[in-house]
Amino acid sequence: MAKLIHLSDLHLVSPGTLTSRVLDTNAILEETINEIANKIEYFGQIDALVVTGDISDDGSLESYISAYEKLGKLNVPVLAIPGNHDLRIPMRKIFHEDVEFSTSSTQFDWAFQHEETLIIGLDTLVEGENFGLLEKESLDFLSKYLSNYQGSDLVLLIHHPPIKTGIYFMDQIGLKNSSDLSECLKSSNNPVKILCGHVHGVYHGLLGIHPVVTAPSVCSAFEFNRKKTAPVGFNKGPTGYAYFETSTDGFWTAIPSNYGSGPLKFSDGSEINT
Ligand SMILES: [Fe+2]
Repeated sequence: MAKLIHLSDLHLVSPGTLTSRVLDTNAILEETINEIANKIEYFGQIDALVVTGDISDDGSLESYISAYEKLGKLNVPVLAIPGNHDLRIPMRKIFHEDVEFSTSSTQFDWAFQHEETLIIGLDTLVEGENFGLLEKESLDFLSKYLSNYQGSDLVLLIHHPPIKTGIYFMDQIGLKNSSDLSECLKSSNNPVKILCGHVHGVYHGLLGIHPVVTAPSVCSAFEFNRKKTAPVGFNKGPTGYAYFETSTDGFWTAIPSNYGSGPLKFSDGSEINT
């Protein structure tokens, strides 16, 4: 089993500048990492950080250097995939230490093994576009691992979720070929846990027998509004990250950055004995 912290959509820019003119995403990431470090005693030992894309907002080398330096403070492997805001060349210059990249592809595809858990990261980035696409090379990379893997703890990371959210402007820029991924995953008899980002909120769905979850963004959120005319934009919260245990009796849970005040006593003032 692997115990993972799942972060997504950091949207860093060069330090000293703001994302979308209002968010100091470098400071927000720093606060989040400090918060996780302070809560490690609640979580127990963490085996890796997984980051499901949009590490950078502007694709600058400085943003990747800043992100890696902050994420590295937790002293565990940092397993990251690109999102639609990322650029492969500067990202790979910095985020290459902890994963084994595909040798047969120029895509940002990699695998990472921890005990019985196999984590595969696939690239859905189409540079210059906001939608996502899994190239044949990436699907072949996944197929190769699926056909050789005997264990049951299989985790797939992709930025663009292969499910809908109901938010019109996000679903317009979703994964274009979810059906190709679904077809590829048919060779796995065990459910593959698919962790995603992109939608800056928590969604759950299924791709065949395979569960799909999306993490909250570390820096902003998209309000759930199913109207086609919903305003296109972001809110400053709620933000957060997630904790995931990969075994079949494990779980994935989203953790908000702000719980509000507490813990407060229950109405009769009693402690709960468990
Ligand atoms: Fe994003």
